[in-house]
Amino acid sequence: MTDRSEWTGRVGESWAREWQRTDRSFGPVTDVLLAQAEARDFASAVDIGCGAGEMTLRLGEKHPYARVLGLDVSEDLVEQARGRTAGLPNVRIELGDAAGWQAREGERPDLLVSRHGVMFFDDPVGAFASLARTAQTDARLVFSCFREPRENGWVRALRSALPRQDGPPADPDAPGPFAFGRSERIRQILSDAGWRDIAIEPLDYPMLVGEGGDAIEDALSYFLRIGPAARTVAMLEGPEREVTLARLRGVVEDHDEAGRVALPAAAWIVTARAPA
Ligand SMILES: C[S@@+](CC[C@H](N)C(=O)[O-])C[C@H]1O[C@@H](n2cnc3c(N)ncnc32)[C@H](O)[C@@H]1O
Repeated sequence: MTDRSEWTGRVGESWAREWQRTDRSFGPVTDVLLAQAEARDFASAVDIGCGAGEMTLRLGEKHPYARVLGLDVSEDLVEQARGRTAGLPNVRIELGDAAGWQAREGERPDLLVSRHGVMFFDDPVGAFASLARTAQTDARLVFSCFREPRENGWVRALRSALPRQDGPPADPDAPGPFAFGRSERIRQILSDAGWRDIAIEPLDYPMLVGEGGDAIEDALSYFLRIGPAARTVAMLEGPEREVTLARLRGVVEDHDEAGRVALPAAAWIVTARAPA
């Protein structure tokens, strides 16, 4: 499972190199999150776990009179986000852990957004309680996260191609991409942390992983750099590696439609309000 320490190292590095393809894979999620975020005016927004900064950039560009802060623990991703937002005077990118982050005086956010960046806290209730304290009264929270692996066709497809993992099943609530897979857990965490008016809606979307002249190679190389296949294949050698690569190619080919490779993905779109 990917936790905070991995983001500060190897995983953050890969995401910083692959930002164009990760942004592409989140396309429909980004549109829904932006629509929710922009449904009301805001003066000061923070993008939690901003990664390479697409959400920060899009909010900052469209709302030049609002202050937009991107916050992330990965130096590589912060550098990338700073480069992408360099021309925007209303945008700042900070290196830091959102779990204990305190807004500067006069910059308390009235909007907190996150595209898949809030599932990696060791103590999620503590982190969301701290965010509620530093936010303005009534601030809006808008984030996305994956639903459970079994609901995500892309996970099932990749797992079918990878060697079986022996050993006890992993803790589904451990920090990582699927830690917020169950909506009851999200609701409990947020309400224990003091957030209210919690709404959790499913979003099913096609996760676009390959397109262009060689969509299949595009998708395969993406899966070998980002996500569960990248991690497993990196540990394989010899014939097992060859067999696994052939199976992954099969999965990608099965999802190629007219030069676009997309796999089914399932997310939650979560909204809430900070304590009064
Ligand atoms: C799945 S990536 C999503 C990145 C970005 N929001 C996007 O949509 O491209 C998760 C991000 O959360 C960041 N992250 C993980 N734990 C964090 C923490 N405690 N504080 C701030 N950022 C964190 C990671 O470094 C990573 O950039």
